[in-house]
Amino acid sequence: MELLYEGKAKKVYRSEVPGQLIMEFKDDATAFNGQKRGQIADKGSVNAQMTARIFQWLMEKDIPTHLIRRLDDRHLLVRQLTMIGLEVVVRNGVAGSLSQRTGLPEGTAIDQPVLELYYKNDALGDPLINDDHVRLLHLASPQELAAIRRQAMQINEWLRPFFQERGILLVDFKLEFGWFEGQLMLGDEISPDTCRLWDSQTRERLDKDRFRRDLGGVEEAYQEILKRVMT
Ligand code: TMP
Repeated sequence: MELLYEGKAKKVYRSEVPGQLIMEFKDDATAFNGQKRGQIADKGSVNAQMTARIFQWLMEKDIPTHLIRRLDDRHLLVRQLTMIGLEVVVRNGVAGSLSQRTGLPEGTAIDQPVLELYYKNDALGDPLINDDHVRLLHLASPQELAAIRRQAMQINEWLRPFFQERGILLVDFKLEFGWFEGQLMLGDEISPDTCRLWDSQTRERLDKDRFRRDLGGVEEAYQEILKRVMT
């Protein structure tokens, strides 16, 4: 298979069919824009399975995604999107950089979800940007950005109860979108790498913050999330 792209957590290969790609999920883990590096055993498998499960479920709710089907433990067959250079973060609670930026303690509830836009640019460290910057950088038109915001908020409305029913608080998560034949589609992944997932009862962190913050029990947390998500 021809390797088209290798990122920090995934490789992307060309498939035999034009317009279709194969995403391979790696066990490699990075944090703080690649400054911290490591491996999380079976992370690739957890993230591929969880992404496939959640994208399939979202498609049943009429949210378009790039997923065609899961090929095996680590590989997904996806549509080739023209990616939008944004990371869209939706927050239901205060954590991470929002806590740092505002001084609000982690765990503070938010009654109206907060949506943030980050410019996907490793050299700049993925900075927080606003709608005018999106226009300035030609990342999306105002109409397109409005559609992206609507879609991200709708996904949050579906995912919150999905996780809640499984004893998980969806604190925040990151989405990436792209275009396929004029249609806005959810791309990339939804996994413990890209979400903050806390046990509803104990508030234990069951996500990549265990790796970022050296909390231990990283693999166990990923397996626990997979078990709950696959039911
Ligand atoms: P933050 O609080 O560090 O800004 O992260 C917000 C959410 O976005 C959190 O669920 C983790 C996710 N995220 C990514 O998926 N990729 C990234 O590079 C970063 C910084 C955060």
